[in-house]
Amino acid sequence: MTNILLITSSPRGAEGLSSRVATDVAEQIKARSGGTLNTRDLSAEPLPHITPAYINGRMASSEARTPEQAQAVGLAEALVDEIEAADTIVIGSSMINFGPSSQLKAWIDHVTWPGVTFKYDENGPKGLLSGKKVYLVTASGGVFSEGQYASFDFQTGYLMHLLRFIGLIDIELIRVEGTAYGPDAVRAAMVSAEAQIRTALEGAA
Ligand SMILES: Cc1cc2nc3c(=O)[nH]c(=O)nc-3n(C[C@H](O)[C@H](O)[C@H](O)COP(=O)(O)O)c2cc1C
Repeated sequence: MTNILLITSSPRGAEGLSSRVATDVAEQIKARSGGTLNTRDLSAEPLPHITPAYINGRMASSEARTPEQAQAVGLAEALVDEIEAADTIVIGSSMINFGPSSQLKAWIDHVTWPGVTFKYDENGPKGLLSGKKVYLVTASGGVFSEGQYASFDFQTGYLMHLLRFIGLIDIELIRVEGTAYGPDAVRAAMVSAEAQIRTALEGAA
């Protein structure tokens, strides 16, 4: 049985194509595996930005934390626990100003945690999460998988880097791109995404 964590983060809410496609991926995996699906909708329930209470609180022992620090660190612990409980993580990410949305960035800032999800040793950085499959769905107005704007994509490269940095190294990327070029382009992007999903799920449980 597969425990799936679905994370959606489009600031466009229900219109978000990354959320729609990521939800489709998660539901297909659930149907195949008979697993559980836990959804964290960062658009409907945004996380706070990280604060001094969080940054100082996570460096303090649990007994030494102020109530404000304990609350901030407790939220981060709950988010890391959600990752730990999952075998498969599906992430939907909208491109906003060439990077991920601030909704998703707030999640990243809570779960990228020295000594908990990564550390540095004599060999350099080491991700502390392991054994999980990630499906990363990125949606963008422009086309970045190839062509003259490929170097403008700070969303996909950043997310792949960050996920690998915390140990989530087994990543299938599904791109929904060119969505700013009108309804026909959106339809084509969704058809392409469906084909990418089929390929990504080949051989999956
Ligand atoms: C505030 C805002 C900023 C955006 N910035 C970019 C951008 O920098 N590059 C781009 O290609 N598309 C950009 N777009 C278009 C979105 O990437 C596109 O609508 C995509 O489908 C959003 O993902 P979603 O459908 O999951 O919400 C932007 C859209 C919004 C609303």
